[in-house]
This record gives sequence, C-alpha cells and structure tokens, in this order.
Amino acid sequence: TQAEKGGFSSFMDKEIHDQPAAVRDTLLGRLDEKGRLTLDELHIDESVLRSVDKIVVIACGTAAYAGHVARYAIEHWCRIPTEVELAHEFRYRDPIVTEKTLVVALSQSGETMDTLMAIRHAREQGAKVIAICNTNGSSIPRESDASLYTHAGPEIAVASTKAFLAQITAAYLLGLYLAQLRGNMYSDEVIEILDELQKMPEKVQEVIDNEKQVQDLGTQMSDASSVLFLGRHVGFPVALEGALKLKEIAYIHAEGFAAGELKHGPIALIEEGQPVFVIVPSPRGRDSLHAKVVSNIQEIRARGAITIVIAEEGDEDVKQYANHIIYVPQAPSLMQPLLATVPLQVFACALAGAKGYDVDQPRNLAKSVTVE
Ligand code: G6P
Repeated sequence: TQAEKGGFSSFMDKEIHDQPAAVRDTLLGRLDEKGRLTLDELHIDESVLRSVDKIVVIACGTAAYAGHVARYAIEHWCRIPTEVELAHEFRYRDPIVTEKTLVVALSQSGETMDTLMAIRHAREQGAKVIAICNTNGSSIPRESDASLYTHAGPEIAVASTKAFLAQITAAYLLGLYLAQLRGNMYSDEVIEILDELQKMPEKVQEVIDNEKQVQDLGTQMSDASSVLFLGRHVGFPVALEGALKLKEIAYIHAEGFAAGELKHGPIALIEEGQPVFVIVPSPRGRDSLHAKVVSNIQEIRARGAITIVIAEEGDEDVKQYANHIIYVPQAPSLMQPLLATVPLQVFACALAGAKGYDVDQPRNLAKSVTVE
C-alpha cells in the first residue's frame, strides 16, 4: 500500500493532492470543443426535466454538505425550489414527493444504505432520481433513473476529500444543464460559468501548493480541545464540512455555524484562546456579505478568539483582524467552496497526524455504511 499512497504519508494526504485532477476529470468529456455542456449520459426525457417543480438533494455525511453547496447554485441558476435532506431523515417525515419532483442522490460509494432506501421511497412516489456517484455500477446509480458519475478515482481514506470537490463539480454541471434546458440561462452565460469551472483545477492546485502554512497551523494547534468554523452563503456548508473533518479524524469537538447566527447563540462559546476558522466571502461580491463577516471576525476577536481566516487573495481589509490568514485564489462566489475547503482538509489531516492518529482509518467509522 505504500506504493498506492504515491509517496504520501496517508491516503487522505494523497487524495487531498488528487483534487485538481478530480475536478478536471469530472469536467472532462462533458464540454464540447466550443465549451458547451453536453451531458449525453443523462438518460432522462427532456420533457420530464422541463416539468420538474422541486428538487430534493439526498445524501449523508460529506456528500450532504456537497448537496448544501450545490443548492445555492441550483436555485440561483435554475429557479427551481431545492431542498437538501439527510437521507435517513427524508423518508420518515412523509415528504411531499410527486412525479414532478427530481431527487438528486449524492454518494461517493453508491452503497450507503440510508441513501439507497431514500431513493427507493422517492421512486415509489413517482419521483425521478439522478445519482451523482463516484463508483461505477454501484447500487445507488443502478437503482436511479439516470447517473452522473464523478471521476475522482477510488477514494480510500474514510474521511472524504476529493469526492466532495467532485460532487460539487458534478452537481454544478447538472444545475447548468437544467438551467439551459429550461431556458433560465442563455447558452453564453452557461459557457461563461463553465469557463470559470475549468479554471478551478489550477486554482485548487495553487491552494495545495501553499499547504505548508496550514500544516504548520495544524501541528501548532494539536492541543486544541475545540475548534469552531464560521461561514456564510456557500461558506456555511464549507464550515460544516471543516468541522466534520476534524471530528472524524482528530476526535476534537468541532462545530460549524452560519456566521449570521453567531449573535443568536454561538458567540456565547467564545472565550480567550478559542480557535475559530472563518471563511470570508469575496469582497468583490455584489452583496454586503463580506463586510458582515468581517464584522463577525471583529466581534469574536474582541472576545479573545484566535481567528484563522480564509480569504480571497487581495482582500487586505480583513487581514488586520486575523491572527492567521490563509489566502485562496480569486474566484466567483459559487466556486469558492472548491478552494476554501482544501485548507480545512489539510488542517484536519495535519492536526490528526500530529496527534499520532491513523488518519485513513479513524476509530468507529466505516468508509461506506451499508446498514440503516
Ligand atoms: C460514511 C463515511 C463518510 C461519507 C458518508 C456518505 O459515513 O464515513 O465519509 O461522507 O458515509 O458516504 P457516500 O459513499 O454515500 O458518499
């Protein structure tokens, strides 16, 4: 297995480094020579996709956070009401599902029993199901109406990394496809976004090239007993994913919050020395989210938090409030999760490694949970 790790200390470390390729390969073959989207593999009648009036994204764990990221893009591009639900909760609340419901099931393994049972239930109610999956021929795509494969390559480490980026990429392609099909976006708008998506592998690589700074932080902070993560808009699910990585492999109490929710409760947790990661929206965004998150950073700094800020290159304003600043390349807001997640993965991996834990095989967890 040492050879399979390709010279890295763990599969997780290797898979973090595989991410530029995971995104690139997931885009590969889905754009024609003119940069237009071609999802020929989506064998669902176009008239059915045109009549969809609700999308429900179903998944567990990291895949569910990818679903939360995707929701922002899908609703924005397609104007179709979109819900994201944990697969094991979905079925048991008597959800409203009709023939006009499109269920999108996200799963790396394609074998998660909770997700499989949820799609069976949805299809019984007449919904169409599209699987976004990383494992060819697995149960979830087999039981779906159509599949869109992520091409991240086999993921071995229990804690998911490259599958997450590939899931976001594939879900974005699906969103763009629906937007175009339903006439919500002109094809040149779609091409513009696809252009941006195609620049992402290179940008992800830039983040990885700066991993040393984050690894050092992880080692330095290995005694932390709790780490908090704040984000807003697409940065919110990124914060949740950052916290999950730390729980899974470093066994540290970690929690992600929507930054706007801070004042409604979580700020009470802040005391001297509390490490808090903050994912900062782009200052170039059209809304005022950047300023709002910067003021959240000031609030927690004033209460003694150690702030580790992930911000866009060129964002000088936020620097003065950061104990540590990690810059990621500039990108449109919806693309930021593909960049901002990477330092969080690197941090968890380094911290768990510094504690001497086996990052690939964390205690109590399985790569694929095939029981309900
Ligand atoms: C398990 C794994 C997680 C994963 C989740 C969903 O709990 O430990 O890393 O995110 O299952 O797995 P799936 O294969 O459906 O994406």
